[in-house]
Amino acid sequence: MDDLRMESRSAGLQPSPVQTAPSGQSVEAGPTPILRSGRRDLLDLDDFSPEEITGLLDSAEGMSEVLSRDVRKTPALRGKTIITLFYEASTRTRVSFEQAGKILSADVINVTTEASSVKKGESLLNTVLTLQAMQVDAIVMRHPHSGAPYLVAHHVDAAVINAGDGTHAHPTQALLDMFTIRRHIGAIAGKRVAIVGDILHSRVARSNMHGLSKMGAQIVVCGPPTLLPMGFEPGRIVPEGHPFEGVNVAASADEACEGADVVMALRIQKERQDSGRLPSMREYSTVWGINSKRLALAKPGALLMHPGPMNEGVEISSDVAHGVQSVIREQVQNGVAMRMAVLYALCAVKREGGGG
Ligand code: CP
Repeated sequence: MDDLRMESRSAGLQPSPVQTAPSGQSVEAGPTPILRSGRRDLLDLDDFSPEEITGLLDSAEGMSEVLSRDVRKTPALRGKTIITLFYEASTRTRVSFEQAGKILSADVINVTTEASSVKKGESLLNTVLTLQAMQVDAIVMRHPHSGAPYLVAHHVDAAVINAGDGTHAHPTQALLDMFTIRRHIGAIAGKRVAIVGDILHSRVARSNMHGLSKMGAQIVVCGPPTLLPMGFEPGRIVPEGHPFEGVNVAASADEACEGADVVMALRIQKERQDSGRLPSMREYSTVWGINSKRLALAKPGALLMHPGPMNEGVEISSDVAHGVQSVIREQVQNGVAMRMAVLYALCAVKREGGGG
């Protein structure tokens, strides 16, 4: 990739029209820039402006309209090729990206580590350069190593979409979470969002903290002290200069849930625990699990969210997970519309410098 193209990836924000049409017309009316000029990838939300996030949420409204039609198909990405490249297990994210791409008429090819030359030891870089040689337009990737999508983005012309990298980021999950919140309770600004559980290992929490803070939410997090990131002290606000400055760290799950508009329970990531970080699952559930008693401390009608997959009976009790305040299944449903919006924003508009 030449210097000009590298530069275009880090170009500053320029005003761009925000797509507001909820009718879905915009999807078929031709590309409308939603993201700032020069944005090529979705790696995390930390460098997204509130206007770009709002543009994606508005676009997802249009995509939802497409999903409500009898024939769920639009030609927006006809002729484009999207690869899903997953080095870690996934149900929701991988399937919803595949479905999103197909509804937009793109050709979607799924590459799994088990059935590709990764199994023969091919490196990540050589794998993506091989895919790039086939002139793909977007690579949707999940990888156990934090930062892997950034490495890939520096070496390929295709749009790179981070579908989860290690403990670092899961931006499309945060976008679909914000979309779900906005659909239920309106503007995100000023809403109190409690994020409860294993903050340390949660890429969902990190991307949500970036996205929600940009949209003006009051964020309160809590979890066992051993599962909080550096700079997060129970009972304190994350100090200035920290990437998550201003986030309130509650001393208990009860305190976090009190008066919340949204309670987001996080999955205990058994696969990422070092020994000794967690008490027993039983104790975790008692102290940090979201149950009906704890949820009752939130505002009446508060939303209960979980990114999935759930460990029912550990971080969330079954009655509330499937209760009236739960929007967990809607999160999954909204994931398709949100990922359609992301694919459209990154693939439909002609990209500067060619390629992709
Ligand atoms: N929320 C989420 O990323 O789920 P999957 O691991 O099933 O994709």
